[in-house]
Amino acid sequence: MLNINEIRAQFPVLDQQVYGKPLVYLDNAATTQKPLCVIERERDYYLHENCNIHRGVHYLSQKATEAYEHARQTVADFIHAKEAREIIFTRGTTESLNLLATSFEHLFLSTFHSPLSTDSKPSTLNSQLKVLVTAMEHHSNLVPWQQMVQRHQGQLLVVPMDDKGVLDLEQYEKLLKEGPKVVSIAHISNVLGTINPVKEMVAMAHRYGIPVVIDGAQSIAHHPIDVQDLDCDFFVFSGHKMYAPMGIGGLYGKAEWLEKLPPYQFGGEMVDKVSFEKTTFNVLPYKFEAGTPNVGAALGLETAIQFLQSLDRKAVEDHETMLLQSAIQKLSEIEGIRFIGEAEHRSGLVSFIIDGIHPYDLGTIIDKMGVAVRTGHHCAEPVMTRFGIPGTVRASFALYNTMDEVEVFVKAVKKAAMMLR
Ligand SMILES: Cc1ncc(COP(=O)(O)O)c(C=O)c1O
Repeated sequence: MLNINEIRAQFPVLDQQVYGKPLVYLDNAATTQKPLCVIERERDYYLHENCNIHRGVHYLSQKATEAYEHARQTVADFIHAKEAREIIFTRGTTESLNLLATSFEHLFLSTFHSPLSTDSKPSTLNSQLKVLVTAMEHHSNLVPWQQMVQRHQGQLLVVPMDDKGVLDLEQYEKLLKEGPKVVSIAHISNVLGTINPVKEMVAMAHRYGIPVVIDGAQSIAHHPIDVQDLDCDFFVFSGHKMYAPMGIGGLYGKAEWLEKLPPYQFGGEMVDKVSFEKTTFNVLPYKFEAGTPNVGAALGLETAIQFLQSLDRKAVEDHETMLLQSAIQKLSEIEGIRFIGEAEHRSGLVSFIIDGIHPYDLGTIIDKMGVAVRTGHHCAEPVMTRFGIPGTVRASFALYNTMDEVEVFVKAVKKAAMMLR
């Protein structure tokens, strides 16, 4: 059992009033709050250990380097990567996905005849460069791939979903036969809460020899992740959505893929030998970590992982499911409510609109009652287009939320709906 009071005591930010009302923070899919241990770890680093890593022989530099590499091992263990060198620290999911889209583009350009070349030989890249995503992607897992394929007159293939927000796996299989070079899919939709059957989707793509990227931004805080069991080729995530500081996140990649992909950014640390004529690159994971990293935040991420590991993760899942089910059940009583995302396998959040009421107006009114939710398209405009709506109100839960907060939230929505009708 989770001791929610004890947990909440570790999140001082929750203990405040907004507009004279106790804060009810239900915007956890955007970012989670940080426990004291994480804040203190980062502070402690700057108080006692701050130093640039990997480059110094002196005590502090070695200490900071050791701590940073220890954090990498902790991340590797947390998601069950085979080796620490399969973990690349990035700023978060968005940067990880941009890294992959760029590196894959360069890999394809070096593998196929480049359409950018002045050579008159016909390009084979144009017809071959397809990337497969799903209809429920966050812009971060859509725009980098879209821009990449468009630079080469390639094509973005999109797996459709049904009215409940469930992917059509028959269509997925058909699209795999069209020969995409990469599949990149959300583990959990940040709008619909759908948990996609990623393990099955990875196995299907592998039957066609296609590598799979999983966008784990919305899953890693809520469910144990085992990248070896999923057999995904890449898994990306953001620290700030899992109780860690902002500005840190990760990219897991199977070593054989990371070895094959060219570097993303160039500069210090990612090189082996440099001359004016030629540069050779460092080994994994440093090949992908150009420049000075966010060491303090990486240590904060390690502490956030330790914080999660100190809890019974099954109990966390059960608690969050209970909050979600209670919210759905209570919201269902509201006349004219339409849930966006009704998959059987879902997690963490509920999205809805109410007939005749703009989500923004509803969000603004319940904010004045102390309730923080997100309104709008949630960086997933194609999802809004699919459902023919301007946006949704989204309440997303974390381990520190309580049943009382669900009650306050639903009451606030009911009151706002009455005021706006
Ligand atoms: C599913 C999903 N992917 C990607 C992102 C982007 O994450 P970040 O802004 O931390 O890079 C988000 C953020 O909400 C998300 O929910």
